[in-house]
Amino acid sequence: MEASSWTGVYREGRALFTANANPGVKVYGEALRSVQGTEYREWDPFRSKLAAYLLRGAPPDLFRGVRRALYLGASHGTTLSHLSDAWPGASIVAIEKSPASFAPLLALARRRANLLPILADAQLPERYAADVGEADFLYQDVAQRNQTAIFAENAATCLARGGAGVLMLKVRSVTQRRPAAAIVRDARAELGRAGLSVAHEAGLAPFSREHVAFAVRR
Ligand SMILES: C[S@@+](CC[C@H](N)C(=O)[O-])C[C@H]1O[C@@H](n2cnc3c(N)ncnc32)[C@H](O)[C@@H]1O
Repeated sequence: MEASSWTGVYREGRALFTANANPGVKVYGEALRSVQGTEYREWDPFRSKLAAYLLRGAPPDLFRGVRRALYLGASHGTTLSHLSDAWPGASIVAIEKSPASFAPLLALARRRANLLPILADAQLPERYAADVGEADFLYQDVAQRNQTAIFAENAATCLARGGAGVLMLKVRSVTQRRPAAAIVRDARAELGRAGLSVAHEAGLAPFSREHVAFAVRR
């Protein structure tokens, strides 16, 4: 087990792991491995688009220095749980609008002190901006038609200048009527107009064929 260039993420060959902040407990049926007294949870790239993005070449400094993060579309907390492991000293505000998903998210947060879940719509960042303060990392995975606009507005409201972010663009949620390449090009341009420079982008195949990840900096 070796530390990777991404803060708090470990590797063994192609497999990714985080050190379990809640030892003995699995979050989504992932494999647990104990090595020299530390328990690691395997981070499954077929279950988590962020793990897929790391394997598809995300920048090595992507997670550097994160103290306060805003996570939009946390669902049950599959990916969020790994960020909770990876950044024990950070606080992560997790927004989810579905009450059905929020219940397991709340249960996860009760066992992990660095998570603050909020039941809210990411289209209305003014509702939770005071709880977030100034984030230095923004992650979004909401699969909505206006997902790039949601990301841009949250960045403008909550992301510090110089802060980093990742937008998981679900291309077919934008429209079924235009070629994928045009949708990706429009999203890139929209990020630029919002003052977000795209540091890196990658499709997530073979883990997900529907998503393109953008790593940005404000
Ligand atoms: C693909 S799932 C997220 C999976 C999660 N990010 C993970 O990797 O573990 C998308 C989630 O976004 C939530 N969502 C969609 N639109 C939203 C919005 N406007 N505000 C907040 N959450 C939203 C959905 O309810 C759903 O739980």
